Amino acid sequence: MKKRSNFSSRLGFVLAAAGSAVGLGNIWRFPYLAAKYGGGTFLLIYIILVVTFGFSLMIAEIALGRKTGLSAIGAFKSLDKRFGFLGILASAVPIIIFPYYSVIGGWVMKYGTEFAIHGVKAASTDTYFSNFIADTPQALGFFLLFMGFTAVIVGFGVEKGIEKVSKFMMPVLVILTIIIAVYVLTIPGAMDGLKYYFTPHMSDVSAKTILAAMGQMFYSMSLAMGIMITYGSYMKKDNPLEASVRQIEWFDTGIALLAGLMIVPAVYAFSGGDESAMGAGPGLMFITLPKVFATMHAGRFVGFLFFLMVFFAALTSAISLMETIVSIFRDKFGWNRTKACVIVTVISLALGVPSCLGFGILGFITAGGMSILDMMDFASNSVLMPIVALVTSVFIGFIITPKEIINEVELGGHVFKSKKLFTIMIKYIAPVFLILILLSSVASALGIFKI
Ligand code: PHE
Repeated sequence: MKKRSNFSSRLGFVLAAAGSAVGLGNIWRFPYLAAKYGGGTFLLIYIILVVTFGFSLMIAEIALGRKTGLSAIGAFKSLDKRFGFLGILASAVPIIIFPYYSVIGGWVMKYGTEFAIHGVKAASTDTYFSNFIADTPQALGFFLLFMGFTAVIVGFGVEKGIEKVSKFMMPVLVILTIIIAVYVLTIPGAMDGLKYYFTPHMSDVSAKTILAAMGQMFYSMSLAMGIMITYGSYMKKDNPLEASVRQIEWFDTGIALLAGLMIVPAVYAFSGGDESAMGAGPGLMFITLPKVFATMHAGRFVGFLFFLMVFFAALTSAISLMETIVSIFRDKFGWNRTKACVIVTVISLALGVPSCLGFGILGFITAGGMSILDMMDFASNSVLMPIVALVTSVFIGFIITPKEIINEVELGGHVFKSKKLFTIMIKYIAPVFLILILLSSVASALGIFKI
């Protein structure tokens, strides 16, 4: 078989992996979770989890990929035949997420173009969002467009497509985020919101805070879905693995914190300090924020920059999802890139249509108040991902043993500084945490309590 493609440089690898990690989760989900679960306390808990738990799992996945030079299914199977099923489970996650993620990507494109072409007026009305997502031709059109963009970039390959796009989009994304955050902090009332964001509210902290932070960390770092295994398989053997993971985690966390800096004070000022405004969930980005932009000076321009930034974040994440699926198919069937891209696009479009129409003509299909899109999200994030992460940590901790991963990290004479932390996390702490996450998702699905 042909030699596997590689990221050409360490920077390219780090930016592509950070591109995967930085996505919609950082921009709308993180800020509203932080506001809901105790501000400063949530931030602190989140950061501790990232640098210990998230760090260890990310090291494990990237090392698995680089060691075997394969995507998830092949990687697990080549190390132990009995664990091929784990690769299949991990691969199911991006196959489920990619279609509905592209539906949301389409919404982001719609808002960006609306702000650019018509301004903020219509977009900030109460019914704009619900009308748009129920409008079949439009919702489908933007979904197709977003997936088309992703497919073309993935079609260009690891170095010429993914790496190039990440090297351009990620720095621009950082700059846009900083500009918007600084601007937002100048609006009247923003400082109180800032205080609200950073002050620890101990009364809002409970076991649920930790579980919410953990769930968010997984999703945000793109763990437990084979993505980091695939990207690791494209990483050069002499690149420092540990230092690269540290950079990716800080990039991801930094953007999440900055997104909070722009969203929490803006919404706080807009709602006159009404804390419940932050809890609007997904509606925050598409319903509340356009209203906030409408009240701002130069709101049309700031709104446009905001959705452009979100578009870059969503696109680089979608690219990693699609690349993971493409590489699984290529490893399995030996297809060339173009063939794999075409087939994956067709399948994903078909799988995405129900999520896309679930707010319009298929709106009658719901379960416990969840739309089709919500169901996909729940199945992947709350059920499959914790299972995959749990079995992966047991696999590494007790089947192949952490030594295998440590050797991979130390290739090329790099010292693995957090070796001890890694071993303890993977063997003992991660499995316990993961069982708790899993139990809490099941409990919340059964309506015992809501995260
Ligand atoms: N990590 C991305 C985010 O924070 C989400 C994502 C999930 C990306 C799955 C790719 C795959 O939004």
